[in-house]
Amino acid sequence: MAINIKSQREIELMRESCRILSLVHEELGKFIKPGISTKDIDDLGYKLITSYGCIPNFLNYAGYPASLCVSVNDEVVHGIPKKNRILKEGDIVSLDAGLIYEGYHSDAARTYGVGKISDEAQKLIDVTKQSFFEGIKYAKEGNYLFDISNAIDDYVTPFGYGIVRSLVGHGVGTELHEDPQIPNFRQKRRGPKLKAGMTLAIEPMINMGTWDVNWLDDEWTVVSADGSLSAHYENTVLITDGEPEILTLGNV
Ligand code: MF3
Ligand code: CO
Repeated sequence: MAINIKSQREIELMRESCRILSLVHEELGKFIKPGISTKDIDDLGYKLITSYGCIPNFLNYAGYPASLCVSVNDEVVHGIPKKNRILKEGDIVSLDAGLIYEGYHSDAARTYGVGKISDEAQKLIDVTKQSFFEGIKYAKEGNYLFDISNAIDDYVTPFGYGIVRSLVGHGVGTELHEDPQIPNFRQKRRGPKLKAGMTLAIEPMINMGTWDVNWLDDEWTVVSADGSLSAHYENTVLITDGEPEILTLGNV
């Protein structure tokens, strides 16, 4: 396993790729309301990404047919946008987006409530987001990768939620998926040592019920095995010798 260390020049390109993606997410977030289709969101995502002269990196990735993944309620990730999938009040929706700028990939996800949602659903969204921030407290040179995984697990598990195990975070750079894989649940080993210049997509996926998931017949959409709600929060992060830089944070 070789984890790429980005040069100063590469870090600048990653920063710009991620900055643009944060702007895309900001616009997408404002667009979420009851009555729109998941395809409407994808269309806007494609328009925004290409308007910045960037390439949607999910589109055609291993045959994936859209620019965004739009996952509603019990859908965990990789929901394929559809014209007939209409958001309604009380739904929760995860938007996962990425783009390529000058050869450098960025990757980030947010989960939103559609109109007014239940307190339980809001809590799931909030805990999922906070688990990312708990994890990255350990994301610094000299620590070990699985310190991040363990911190996420320690924070989430007391809520009784299920941490998705079949899908994990990853390195990101000139490829969407680079080494290392970054689990969001407790690990027996420490994993590789973190070094300044690593760029990592850290992405907890949390179910209200069981951690177990299934794949739908479309071969992409991942759903919670018990039909419980699921949330996702992801940023591309730069490891430094001090605090990590959350490259895709923006204002959301
Ligand atoms: N954020 C997702 C990931 O990290 C995006 C991949 S979806 C795909 O795996 F459509 F591109 F495959
Ligand atoms: Co990712």
